Amino acid sequence: MKMKVCRRAHFNAAHRLYRKDWTNEKNKEIFGKCSNPNYHGHNYDLIVGIIGEIDPETGFVIDLKIVKDLIKEEIEGAFDHKNLNEEVEEFKSLNPTVENIAVVIWNKLRAKIELQYDIEITLYETPRNFVIYNGN
Ligand code: NI
Repeated sequence: MKMKVCRRAHFNAAHRLYRKDWTNEKNKEIFGKCSNPNYHGHNYDLIVGIIGEIDPETGFVIDLKIVKDLIKEEIEGAFDHKNLNEEVEEFKSLNPTVENIAVVIWNKLRAKIELQYDIEITLYETPRNFVIYNGN
Protein backbone atom coordinates (compact mmCIF):
# COMPACT_ATOMS: atom_id res chain seq x y z
CA MET A 1 0.00 0.00 0.00
CA LYS A 2 1.45 3.32 -1.01
CA MET A 3 0.57 6.69 0.39
CA LYS A 4 1.49 10.26 -0.50
CA VAL A 5 2.51 12.57 2.34
CA CYS A 6 2.77 16.26 1.59
CA ARG A 7 4.56 19.32 2.84
CA ARG A 8 3.46 22.80 1.82
CA ALA A 9 5.97 25.63 1.43
CA HIS A 10 6.17 29.08 0.01
CA PHE A 11 8.60 31.41 -1.72
CA ASN A 12 8.51 34.80 -3.39
CA ALA A 13 10.51 35.33 -6.53
CA ALA A 14 10.82 37.64 -9.51
CA HIS A 15 11.05 36.56 -13.11
CA ARG A 16 10.73 37.58 -16.68
CA LEU A 17 9.52 35.22 -19.40
CA TYR A 18 11.21 35.87 -22.70
CA ARG A 19 13.36 34.44 -25.44
CA LYS A 20 16.44 36.34 -26.49
CA ASP A 21 15.94 35.22 -30.08
CA TRP A 22 12.48 36.83 -30.27
CA THR A 23 11.67 40.53 -30.62
CA ASN A 24 10.15 42.42 -27.68
CA GLU A 25 6.87 42.47 -29.59
CA LYS A 26 6.81 38.73 -30.05
CA ASN A 27 7.77 38.14 -26.40
CA LYS A 28 4.96 40.44 -25.31
CA GLU A 29 2.51 38.69 -27.61
CA ILE A 30 3.38 35.21 -26.28
CA PHE A 31 4.22 35.89 -22.63
CA GLY A 32 2.04 38.95 -21.94
CA LYS A 33 2.62 40.71 -18.63
CA CYS A 34 5.12 38.05 -17.61
CA SER A 35 7.46 39.45 -20.28
CA ASN A 36 7.79 42.85 -18.60
CA PRO A 37 11.49 43.75 -19.15
CA ASN A 38 11.75 45.11 -15.60
CA TYR A 39 10.66 41.80 -14.02
CA HIS A 40 7.76 41.21 -11.63
CA GLY A 41 7.11 38.93 -8.68
CA HIS A 42 4.93 35.97 -7.83
CA ASN A 43 4.05 34.35 -4.52
CA TYR A 44 4.73 30.71 -5.30
CA ASP A 45 3.01 28.03 -3.27
CA LEU A 46 4.73 24.67 -3.37
CA ILE A 47 3.40 21.29 -2.30
CA VAL A 48 5.94 18.49 -2.22
CA GLY A 49 4.37 15.03 -2.19
CA ILE A 50 6.44 12.01 -1.20
CA ILE A 51 4.98 8.65 -2.17
CA GLY A 52 6.01 5.44 -0.49
CA GLU A 53 5.10 2.58 1.79
CA ILE A 54 4.21 3.16 5.43
CA ASP A 55 7.10 1.95 7.59
CA PRO A 56 5.50 -0.53 10.01
CA GLU A 57 7.99 0.40 12.71
CA THR A 58 7.41 4.17 12.74
CA GLY A 59 4.04 4.44 11.01
CA PHE A 60 5.61 7.11 8.76
CA VAL A 61 6.02 7.10 4.99
CA ILE A 62 8.87 9.56 5.56
CA ASP A 63 9.72 11.85 8.44
CA LEU A 64 8.24 15.17 7.26
CA LYS A 65 10.92 17.00 9.22
CA ILE A 66 13.42 15.68 6.65
CA VAL A 67 11.22 16.98 3.83
CA LYS A 68 10.76 20.33 5.56
CA ASP A 69 14.51 20.78 5.99
CA LEU A 70 15.25 19.73 2.40
CA ILE A 71 12.73 22.21 1.01
CA LYS A 72 14.22 24.92 3.18
CA GLU A 73 17.79 24.23 2.09
CA GLU A 74 17.31 23.27 -1.54
CA ILE A 75 14.34 25.35 -2.66
CA GLU A 76 13.61 28.27 -0.36
CA GLY A 77 17.32 28.94 0.11
CA ALA A 78 17.86 28.97 -3.66
CA PHE A 79 14.69 30.78 -4.84
CA ASP A 80 13.15 32.87 -2.07
CA HIS A 81 13.43 36.62 -2.70
CA LYS A 82 15.56 35.97 -5.76
CA ASN A 83 15.38 37.16 -9.31
CA LEU A 84 15.13 33.75 -10.97
CA ASN A 85 16.53 34.84 -14.34
CA GLU A 86 19.53 36.65 -12.90
CA GLU A 87 20.36 34.81 -9.70
CA VAL A 88 19.46 31.16 -10.19
CA GLU A 89 21.90 29.20 -12.34
CA GLU A 90 19.29 26.85 -13.84
CA PHE A 91 17.29 29.77 -15.31
CA LYS A 92 20.18 31.53 -17.00
CA SER A 93 19.41 29.38 -20.02
CA LEU A 94 15.87 28.18 -19.21
CA ASN A 95 12.70 30.26 -19.28
CA PRO A 96 11.42 30.43 -15.66
CA THR A 97 7.84 29.41 -16.40
CA VAL A 98 5.94 27.68 -13.62
CA GLU A 99 6.39 24.46 -15.64
CA ASN A 100 10.17 24.78 -15.77
CA ILE A 101 10.42 25.86 -12.12
CA ALA A 102 8.51 22.71 -11.11
CA VAL A 103 10.93 20.53 -13.12
CA VAL A 104 13.97 22.21 -11.52
CA ILE A 105 12.47 21.71 -8.04
CA TRP A 106 11.74 18.05 -8.80
CA ASN A 107 15.31 17.49 -10.02
CA LYS A 108 16.82 19.15 -6.95
CA LEU A 109 14.73 17.03 -4.56
CA ARG A 110 15.19 13.84 -6.57
CA ALA A 111 18.94 14.16 -6.02
CA LYS A 112 18.42 14.25 -2.24
CA ILE A 113 15.56 11.84 -1.52
CA GLU A 114 16.05 8.08 -1.41
CA LEU A 115 14.99 6.29 -4.60
CA GLN A 116 12.45 4.11 -2.79
CA TYR A 117 10.22 7.21 -2.80
CA ASP A 118 8.40 8.83 -5.70
CA ILE A 119 8.14 12.61 -5.72
CA GLU A 120 5.31 14.83 -6.92
CA ILE A 121 5.65 18.59 -7.20
CA THR A 122 2.60 20.85 -7.23
CA LEU A 123 3.51 24.47 -7.86
CA TYR A 124 1.10 27.41 -7.81
CA GLU A 125 2.20 30.58 -9.57
CA THR A 126 -1.11 32.27 -8.77
CA PRO A 127 -4.02 30.98 -6.69
CA ARG A 128 -5.64 29.77 -9.91
CA ASN A 129 -2.67 28.67 -12.04
CA PHE A 130 -0.66 25.65 -11.03
CA VAL A 131 1.21 22.66 -12.42
CA ILE A 132 1.81 19.13 -11.18
CA TYR A 133 4.99 17.20 -12.08
CA ASN A 134 6.05 13.72 -11.01
CA GLY A 135 9.09 13.11 -13.18
CA ASN A 136 7.29 11.41 -16.07
NI1 NI B 1 5.01 36.04 -14.22
